[in-house]
Amino acid sequence: MHHLQGFERAFGTFPLKGDELATALITALDVGYRAIDTAQMYKNEKTIGSVLSTSRIKRNDLLVTSKVPIDQFDAQHFIPSVKQSLEDLQLDNLDVLLLHWPPANGKIEASVEQLLIAKQNGLTKHIGVSNYTSVMLEQLVQFSDETFVCNQVEFHPLLDQSKLLQASNKTGIPLSSYCSVARGKALEDPVIVDLAEKYQRTPGQIVLKWILQKGLSINTMSTNPDNIRANFNLLDFNLSNVDSACIDALGRHNYRIVNKNLVPWAPDWD
Ligand SMILES: NC(=O)c1ccc[n+]([C@@H]2O[C@H](COP(=O)([O-])OP(=O)(O)OC[C@H]3O[C@@H](n4cnc5c(N)ncnc54)[C@H](OP(=O)(O)O)[C@@H]3O)[C@@H](O)[C@H]2O)c1
Repeated sequence: MHHLQGFERAFGTFPLKGDELATALITALDVGYRAIDTAQMYKNEKTIGSVLSTSRIKRNDLLVTSKVPIDQFDAQHFIPSVKQSLEDLQLDNLDVLLLHWPPANGKIEASVEQLLIAKQNGLTKHIGVSNYTSVMLEQLVQFSDETFVCNQVEFHPLLDQSKLLQASNKTGIPLSSYCSVARGKALEDPVIVDLAEKYQRTPGQIVLKWILQKGLSINTMSTNPDNIRANFNLLDFNLSNVDSACIDALGRHNYRIVNKNLVPWAPDWD
């Protein structure tokens, strides 16, 4: 499965804002992250824009992802909303623009049409989706021949996403993980703790490597410099197939963080 260069390990920015965000993002850039994940809903694009505009990293070396909120999906608001994100981020274009959620009525076509227009108008280099179900991925490839670079979804060891992964392989739309360490919950599991000891890595590194080895790109967020660094330093070891399969078995917990209680407009998940 093809990924954009540098997209494999992105620094997530929700729910960070202001000084806390600026400090974490500067640390992440120092550590080596070049992919940054934000969304208009996070209300933090201005802070990201000011950090990036004062950073010495060249624009071409950065991969900035933002997302259009569902209340901006109509033809009147979509493009102005993307332009607002660009103004706040102080960028001429995005690297990746995602539809943040499927529309509440489940009919994806009109919003995908707007996303294609945004790309045609040069507002973004690449496009993708987020929180799509396996049925929606099928609908997406039926509707358009464009390349969609990701479906960003909740993905961690405590949730069985094998059905969605199957749909991803079938449609050729790669998954990208959020809540990659289940906001810390996955790091307490004894299977993960034991593997961390065995591989002499942190529990976070075991979890993130398991996701990378499944062919996903990852989004991680931390305010702790040690965690920011550890979450990026994943390339100098590999999990064996047997150990990966032990982690697969944790999916039986079906621990879903982003459910309808948290996000009322969430679709009926796979
Ligand atoms: N598309 C969507 O709908 C959607 C939804 C949710 C999130 N996202 C994106 O995905 C990003 C990541 O997801 P997330 O922040 O929700 O969940 P996450 O990465 O699973 O969890 C972040 C939390 O875990 C802790 N943590 C991170 N790395 C750690 C480590 N190595 N060891 C111990 N604790 C660690 C952090 O605390 P410390 O600060 O103390 O390290 C932070 O509180 C977000 O920032 C956002 O960009 C997208």
